[in-house]
Amino acid sequence: MTRPRPVIAIDGPAGVGKSTTARVLAQRLGYTLVDTGALYRGVALAARDRGISWDDEAAVVALGDEAKLGFVSQEDGTPRLLLNGQDRADEIRTPELSAGASQVSAYPGVRRALLGIQRDLGREGGVVLEGRDIGTVVFPDAEVKLFLTASAEERARRRVQDLHDRGTTADYEEILTQIRSRDEADSTRAIAPLRPAEDAVILDSTSLGLEAVVQHVLELVQSCN
Ligand code: DC
Repeated sequence: MTRPRPVIAIDGPAGVGKSTTARVLAQRLGYTLVDTGALYRGVALAARDRGISWDDEAAVVALGDEAKLGFVSQEDGTPRLLLNGQDRADEIRTPELSAGASQVSAYPGVRRALLGIQRDLGREGGVVLEGRDIGTVVFPDAEVKLFLTASAEERARRRVQDLHDRGTTADYEEILTQIRSRDEADSTRAIAPLRPAEDAVILDSTSLGLEAVVQHVLELVQSCN
């Protein structure tokens, strides 16, 4: 299928700079931005709302089918999560919900439920989707596929800096441990584990910086026009 404008898939581990890269790209290109991790966080939040344990796979999967998840765009294009019509974006970034999202994302039924939403959001092209399995599972036919990497230490350092800039202090070792344990869970799960698509461009952002990564992707977009 040919789309008038490309689908850009950005995958990679937690804290690698996918969100910032995806946001800048979407702004420069005038594309829609889709934060697919927010959907998994939304399922974890929906379960917590109902008092359903994240260990209860059957109940969580049923909720994944039933919950209405979507996005509304902030003025700068940043997507805000809607759960059953309510803006819940401010509640999903806690370490607790990061762990919950990681846990529910390993359930095949949850992944199945969220697949349709993600494909609907990207179907027309002109979209940047960021996640873990966009280039491998959600849009294996994406025109542009980027897999971002960076060392766990560098990602932890950036996260501490980011939290510091927002006025929160964080312990580097603690953040590093959380990042490593999410990496392990996300890359070893049986279904849709985190890995680059065979035709993805792999960029190590430890040594590259945001602008260089963005320029690289803009060139890829130009070459597919
Ligand atoms: O990108 P994030 O940190 O908001 O993602 C939260 C969790 O959701 C993460 O642990 C892995 C999972 N996830 C996934 O399995 N597939 C995606 N496309 C996006 C996120």
